[in-house]
Amino acid sequence: MSLLEAALAVQKNAYAPYSKFRVGAAIRSGSGAVYRGCNVENVAYPEGTCAEAGAIAAMIAGGDTAIAEIVVVADSAEPTTPCGGCRQKLKEFAAPEVKVIMATLDGASLTMTVADLLPGAFSASHMDRA
Ligand code: THU
Repeated sequence: MSLLEAALAVQKNAYAPYSKFRVGAAIRSGSGAVYRGCNVENVAYPEGTCAEAGAIAAMIAGGDTAIAEIVVVADSAEPTTPCGGCRQKLKEFAAPEVKVIMATLDGASLTMTVADLLPGAFSASHMDRA
């Protein structure tokens, strides 16, 4: 199963009764393992947890810490880009050149790097004087 197929499969499991917007994400880690996540909303925090964050959590729980590639899928007219918080989470576990592939259910896709998505990222080096 390709990473896109894995993201499409998990997108079907999204729990999004508030936004009605289902998102799936699949990560291939440095070890070659595939981890999936979907968005999970709740009544108190309807924005819930993003698919990308879910896939990252699954990767960490699985004992991997490096993202080699990630695919994000949603039923949008234009490919859905990760939210700001998820961009910082991706930066934590992915090298700047790692590809983030965003795909729609219609077959459109957009590929950007982690560095493209988070230019000028806050990093540990900013705290060197602390
Ligand atoms: N969402 C994601 O899961 N990933 C994204 O990249 C954008 C937004 C989810 C969060 C929420 O459940 C719904 O989409 C609407 O914001």
